[in-house]
Amino acid sequence: MLQDPSHSPRTPRFVQVYREDATALQRELTQGLLQPQAHCSPKFLYDALGSRLFEAITELPEYYPTRTEAAIFAAHGHAMARVMPADATLIDLGAGNCHKAAALFDRLRPQRYVAVDISVQFLRSALESLQRQHPALEMWGLGIDFSAGLELPADMAQATAGPRLLFYPGSSIGNFTPDQALGFLRSVHAACGHAPGSGLLIGVDLVKDASTLEAAYDDALGVTAAFNLNLLLHLNALLKADFQLQDWRHLARYDTHLQRIEMHLQARRSLTVHWQDDSGAARERRFMAGQTLHTENSCKWTLEGFSGLLQQAGFSGLQHWCDEHERFAVFWAQAR
Ligand code: AVI
Repeated sequence: MLQDPSHSPRTPRFVQVYREDATALQRELTQGLLQPQAHCSPKFLYDALGSRLFEAITELPEYYPTRTEAAIFAAHGHAMARVMPADATLIDLGAGNCHKAAALFDRLRPQRYVAVDISVQFLRSALESLQRQHPALEMWGLGIDFSAGLELPADMAQATAGPRLLFYPGSSIGNFTPDQALGFLRSVHAACGHAPGSGLLIGVDLVKDASTLEAAYDDALGVTAAFNLNLLLHLNALLKADFQLQDWRHLARYDTHLQRIEMHLQARRSLTVHWQDDSGAARERRFMAGQTLHTENSCKWTLEGFSGLLQQAGFSGLQHWCDEHERFAVFWAQAR
């Protein structure tokens, strides 16, 4: 019997744009390791084990951002839905397991869901099971690296005309410096397109006392320490480097002036690290006892500071919702 095509089950569509370039990564890492203050991008925290350790961090008693943001969505979801466009394309930046966006489907009733992450492989099983739960919703998985700015592929931009609702939860914006955050938000503003009603729903961690912040990034169980130290295992694999875990300790300090947590790995003794650069040449770096490798910034914002940043990026009609202690905020920002 012929099947009615209008009843055929939907399957998510996948588009992979990002291609890992091992040589470019080796070049980037070599440059950072040879700076007077050695540093490397926080993206290197997220190999397979690092991503699992981050999921564990979100369940720690000290790490309040994830559950505080979830409580804000639970308490104010209806108010958010009133100001956001219905029937929009919901574009989920850094979608991961897609849980946060999926929890909003009932309220936001999107017409289409686009899950964006660096690898569609990572999205595949999450999107396939989500599609079974929401068979009528059109779903796309998009594999891009948006850390240097967001640009939707032309065919996807065409296929997603109409209002777009960009979703960037988790205070991942905090892992950009303020200058980088502004550049990124400008690209998100452009990606909202021209349809009336489009905008950005974004979670932001707020400035608070240093002891709460430092506990959140240096928990008693040592999960964040393991997350940070695991970066050395990732560098050993990417660079054929010889970092020894026992020579390094995790540090997390709040800089009240720069309003950011800085994560570092500190050498416990004087040592030399060796690795291979992008041309295969041998490289080395001496670390004196106490010197550090800077691995992550997690910037905290005031409500006024983040409103100003969104306005500078071109957004208007701002609204925000907070928890009762003003630890975390969710902003809605209109593009037009
Ligand atoms: C992903 N990002 C928002 C986390 C944060 O809080 O900056 C990463 C993290 N680093 C240590 N703990 C969590």
